[in-house]
This record gives sequence, C-alpha cells and structure tokens, in this order.
Amino acid sequence: MKGGQQVQGLLDFIDASPSPWHAVKSIEARLAAFQFIKLEEADKWALDAGGRYYVIRDDSSIIAFVAGPKSLVETGFKIIGAHTDSPGLRVKPNAANAMDGYLRLGVEIYGGPILATFTDRDLSLAGRITYKNDQGTITSTLIRFDNVLLRLPNLAIHMNRNVNEEGLKLNKQSELPLILSLLTQEQVPPSYFASLLEKQSGINAECILFWDLNIYDTQKGTFWGAENEFYADSQLDNLASCHAAIEALLDELILKSDSTLVCALFDHEEVGSESNKGAHGSFLPDILQRIALANETGREDFARALAKSFIISADMAHAYQPNFPYAYDPDHKIIVNQGPAIKVNVSQRYSSESVSEAMFANWCEQAEVPYQRYSHRNDLPCGSTIGPIASAKLGIRSVDVGNPLWAMHSIRESAGVLDHNYMIRVMKRFFAG
Ligand code: CO
Repeated sequence: MKGGQQVQGLLDFIDASPSPWHAVKSIEARLAAFQFIKLEEADKWALDAGGRYYVIRDDSSIIAFVAGPKSLVETGFKIIGAHTDSPGLRVKPNAANAMDGYLRLGVEIYGGPILATFTDRDLSLAGRITYKNDQGTITSTLIRFDNVLLRLPNLAIHMNRNVNEEGLKLNKQSELPLILSLLTQEQVPPSYFASLLEKQSGINAECILFWDLNIYDTQKGTFWGAENEFYADSQLDNLASCHAAIEALLDELILKSDSTLVCALFDHEEVGSESNKGAHGSFLPDILQRIALANETGREDFARALAKSFIISADMAHAYQPNFPYAYDPDHKIIVNQGPAIKVNVSQRYSSESVSEAMFANWCEQAEVPYQRYSHRNDLPCGSTIGPIASAKLGIRSVDVGNPLWAMHSIRESAGVLDHNYMIRVMKRFFAG
C-alpha cells in the first residue's frame, strides 16, 4: 500500500524511541545522516547560508532548521511543530518497595493515559539517568531495558464481576505499582533496583543520583487490516507527527530551500507545555531570535520576519470509530485514510482560523492530498496542542492539523497508512512553497 514504506520508517523510529529522550536521540541520528550540525545554546553561533543545524534543550526537545539563503524579512520562518512526549507512567524517586512477597515499582502518572490499557502488557523501562562520573562531574546518559521487565496484571473477572459493565477502574495510588520481581530474603528493594540500573547502564550504582524513567511497551509496531491499510503502535500521539515533520524536511530538494525551515519538537505537551523546554517556554522564541541575530537581522526586521511566518502545529486527531457514534459530532466525522484533519475550535484550544485553514487546504490541493475538517462535540471538553501556545507567544499565524487516530492515549494506538504519506506530502509542499 502507498505509504507502507514511510509507515515502516515510523514504526522503526518508535521502536528506537521508548522515551522522549530516546526520540530526540533517534531524530539526532537521522539529522546527522543529512549533515546537520549540532549547535549549543551556550556557544556563539555563526550560521552559513543554506546551513543545516539543530539545537537540543535538556535532551528531550529539539529544534532542527535550515538557514535559508534569502533574507528572513522576505521569507519569514516556515515552522512545523509537534511534541516528543506521550502520556504514560513514570518511575517515582523512591520507587522500589516490598509488598506481600513481591517487589514493586511505584509510578507517577504522566499526562492523561488510558490507564486500563497498561494492564497485561509486556512493559519495560527506558529514559535518562543522571550520575557523577569519575571526575566528579554530574552527567546524564540514556538507559533502556530491552527485556520485558514489568507488568500490571489485571484482576480476574471472578474478583471484578462488573468489569464489563463498569469498565476497569484503577486506584491511582494503590493499584498502579508495577510488579518487578518476587521478593527474596537477601533483597533490599532500593538497592536491588539500583543494581538493575547498574547492570543495564554500566554505571556504578552508588554514582547514580536521579532518573527520568518512562514505562514503555516492548511490543513492536505492526500493520493490520485485510489490506494492511492500518498500523498500530505506542506513542503515535505524537511521534507520528514528529516523524512526518522530519521526513518532510529531510529531502534534498527541500533542504535547498530559499526560506528558513524549522521543525520544533517539544517535550511536556501532555502536561501543559510549561517548562524550559516545553512550547510554553522560551525555546522556540530563543532559537528564532538567535537565527535572526546570527544573520544580523535587527529587531524591527525580526518582527517583520515573524509577521511573515507560519506554524503548522501537527498533532493527532480523533478518527471516527463506528462502534461509538455517540462520541463524535455527526457532521465532523474524520475517517482513517482520507487525509489530514484541519482542527477547529473557536475557544482556541486549536490555533486554526479561516485564513490559516484555507492556506493549509491550499497546500493540500497543491500536493494532491485530501483533507478533512474536525470539530469536537460541544458537550465534551476538547483537548489542545502546542499550536495556540506557540502561536500566541510569537504572534505567528498558525493552523492545527493532525492525522486521524484511534484510541488516543491508549498504550496501543492505531492509524491509517495512507494518511502518514499524505501528511508528509503536504508538509513538503508547505516547506517548498
Ligand atoms: Co498529542
């Protein structure tokens, strides 16, 4: 099926990215293959016309850009934004605890996952650990367990007779700790957990100080459906949009653009974006300003450049599921494999307005990509994206778009193969236009 290869690329990217820290590492490797140069925020910058660069803030947000040879005043910035994080479970600081003969790991809820989907899955751990190295310097490294390390076994129906009528309800404090091991006489839970981290990372347990550890699903992504027209994986919201943005940028023709092209991929969207590396922070404004300064663009010209700029905020949208018709506005059903959705919310949970919507629709037409229009039911609260935040901070016109997705915030989400291809094509059109 058309787009199959691109989706395989996406599934491979997700396999390599069991946490936002790993996602940024994977993107960095992809950019390196196209001769992108890493910039440090603490250094002085000198940018070449047509140069390819990226900046990482705190390991889990990344901005990649091509410094177009034409002046910023003339072209503005062409920006695609998305987020690297996904809702789920994160390991608590004093995580390992003994309970009735079992060793469990305490977790905290990150964002708004569908908790019931975390039961009976082949879970493991990945993220970042921070430690003191031999020189006494504090440093961080990524860590990933490949084996199935953890599980949240469901309660048998015999003890939860109404589960099919009432759904699976999990107490967020007492019923989420994950089972790691049987407790033995010799084990002291915290040091046992530290020894696991030591074995996996090669770093002395005493030197490991703190961590950012994500619970991930070890099951690989897959195609499904009679014609392999669908695919399923974890973290599709929003690694699918990150992947589409990067794929759109990494095209030799696009990379020779006259304009300055930007992919801004932020952590912390699922918890409100308010952090030094979130879309509500200074990361994107800082980097755009630094690009302008390196080009000796004055304050007025920078403001003129922003006025000419555009942001596509790409995040997944709610695909219509025919078993649950009551959950959708009947006039705004978006269908899998019928193209990206332009998301509209007059309360500005989405940044789209009629002009930006029309501009996106126009790029779709130029790229021969179908598009759909999405509006949430009035009697249900609507989610949001980085779109309204980034657009408000910078005063840049923006549109919110996203591919149809089933089961948003489940540990196993699904989407359509054609749509991924469509999204990459329209993003290329935007960058090339
Ligand atoms: Co999202």
